[in-house]
Amino acid sequence: MPNSFKLNLVQRPRRLRRTPEIRALVEDTVLLPQNLIAPLFVVEGKGRPEPIASMPGVFRLTIADLVRECRALRKLGVLAVALFPKLGARLKDEEGTAALREDALILRAVRAVKEAVPGMVVMTDIALDPYTTHGHDGVLTADGRDVDNDRTVGILAQMAVLHAAAGVDFVAPSDMMDGRVGAIRRALDAAGRESTSIMAYTAKYASAYYGPFRDAVGSAKAPGTPGLDKRTYQLNPSNRRESLLELRLDEAEGADVVMVKPAGIYLDVIRQLRQATRKPIAAYQVSGEYSQIHAAARLGWLDLAACRRESLVAIKRAGADMILTYFAREMAAELGR
Ligand code: PBG
Repeated sequence: MPNSFKLNLVQRPRRLRRTPEIRALVEDTVLLPQNLIAPLFVVEGKGRPEPIASMPGVFRLTIADLVRECRALRKLGVLAVALFPKLGARLKDEEGTAALREDALILRAVRAVKEAVPGMVVMTDIALDPYTTHGHDGVLTADGRDVDNDRTVGILAQMAVLHAAAGVDFVAPSDMMDGRVGAIRRALDAAGRESTSIMAYTAKYASAYYGPFRDAVGSAKAPGTPGLDKRTYQLNPSNRRESLLELRLDEAEGADVVMVKPAGIYLDVIRQLRQATRKPIAAYQVSGEYSQIHAAARLGWLDLAACRRESLVAIKRAGADMILTYFAREMAAELGR
């Protein structure tokens, strides 16, 4: 039976979806290479890039390769990198003392990037997890059962001053200790580093999606032991209101940029902070978000390029101004084509 059904519609939203050109014209979220920040892992030595099994396409780079990567990113329009060191086990101890060494790998990496690619915005993580044998973001209390807040903050403030002196544009405290943003701001100012910015990990949740990153920097516990538990300092994934409390504190303490992490499964938190602050918002599409797209693509279950783009557009649409993502290079390359 021929179907001659006809609706008498004034509103037909499909009119604006008819052609790619019309769709582009009415698009309200536009992802740009300049919105992306590339997290990069750096190691000592002169070896070849080391693949990270749980993060396909991501490598630990020596300083020479890191500089090459930064040049390539810059050509693609990615203007910022966030650097994470991976230390050999011999350099780690209970107190993370290697974090305050004047010859630390991360400081040499920052100087090398700044010298070779002066315009590149360089950010470094302020936390002790790459430096401690236990993998926590700070030093432990006397009974060894928790991270000591204030003693950790004292160390992080010194660490931030060292990073600032090496030339970073942003220090990014990812440790989630109370009062660290204010202490870092005061220490930077006292050291004459009032131009160094703070990107605060404001709403950083205690997420299982950090697993692959912990492989990358070697902060995961030994195989067979339960995973690292950071629930006494990172936010409870069940809590949304608490992100507003952290926002208020970080703003009052002097954060220049506030962050939500993870990103794609916390879009409600990004949205909420967007409505509550005038500061720029960063969102961190974390290792597990990256790896799960890759894993599904390997199985032939998801289209890698399409999911890469959609996952990032969604994060921007929720309200993020900038996105830390392991897809930065490939995404920027695709956007430039
Ligand atoms: C630790 C830190 C973590 C990440 C960034 N900084 C992991 C953690 O808190 O254990 C995670 C990033 C990712 O998963 O991509 N200071």
